[in-house]
Amino acid sequence: MPSTPPRLCVLGSVNLDLVIQTPRFPQPGETVLGGPFETFAGGKGANQAVAAARLGAEVRFLGCVGDDDGGRSARAAFSEAGVRTEGLETRPDLHTGIGVITVSPEGENHIVVAPGANHAMDAAWVQRHADTIRAADALLLQLEVPLEANRAAAQLARAAGVPVILNAAPAAPLPEDFLAAVHTLIVNQLEFEEMGRPAVPRLVVTYGKAGAVCFDRDDQGQARETRQASFPVEPVDTTAAGDAFCAAATVASLEQAHPRDWLPFGTAAGALACTVVGAIPALPSREAVEALRRSAPLAQS
Ligand code: RIB
Repeated sequence: MPSTPPRLCVLGSVNLDLVIQTPRFPQPGETVLGGPFETFAGGKGANQAVAAARLGAEVRFLGCVGDDDGGRSARAAFSEAGVRTEGLETRPDLHTGIGVITVSPEGENHIVVAPGANHAMDAAWVQRHADTIRAADALLLQLEVPLEANRAAAQLARAAGVPVILNAAPAAPLPEDFLAAVHTLIVNQLEFEEMGRPAVPRLVVTYGKAGAVCFDRDDQGQARETRQASFPVEPVDTTAAGDAFCAAATVASLEQAHPRDWLPFGTAAGALACTVVGAIPALPSREAVEALRRSAPLAQS
């Protein structure tokens, strides 16, 4: 781990996840008896911020919560992980985002999100936090907050020379003036199929059990493709595996330039996140990710 941790700004969502284990996913109109039921702090933005902090980054989070149990639960998770929350606003008029999640015995999930306070963010809101974005080594975004806020943040970062990493989840059409400010785009296989291959300097596609691929250019400007196999684990809940991957790939890529060095760190973090139920409880420590990474094959160019 480097002596100076990377400074990461994460702008994004906070949710309270309501998680039910289900023997199988219901058909439309069908009721299935499941259980047990648990609640966890979650939301793609919060998950990625906490994951990056557990992996050693200095993280500042920008987002909105309600004045409720969901907001308090997220604040506790941020505080425990050491995430700075001067940019986390409480909106008494709105509820914290809610994620309703069902998890099958195979660890797969279905998720529906009610955004609540996550949708209070707009371009003017982002402008109030411009200094935090400008002071970061990188800005990490997802698509659970309004496009207007993401675009404003990305453009502000780009103008300040701060690289923007966008995890385009959940998938949504991305306007060109937003994409033009993105350096690294991270998508899963489904999102990749929906959006095609946008022109960004670096594209990372995750394939779950089949690993991940990074498309970028080498120092000579030649197109380069780096593949990394996944790490075998027994999945119990895949929720937040993508968030762990995004955070780990981001932190490690700020420390090491070549994808063959940081891609395994991302896939190891994603694999470990599948071994624990819940979002934030499943996000692994740096030590755990390093140990798993050392145990398996390196990426191949
Ligand atoms: O990526 C997992 C997250 O997606 C969950 O924590 C849920 O809140 C949804 O945002």
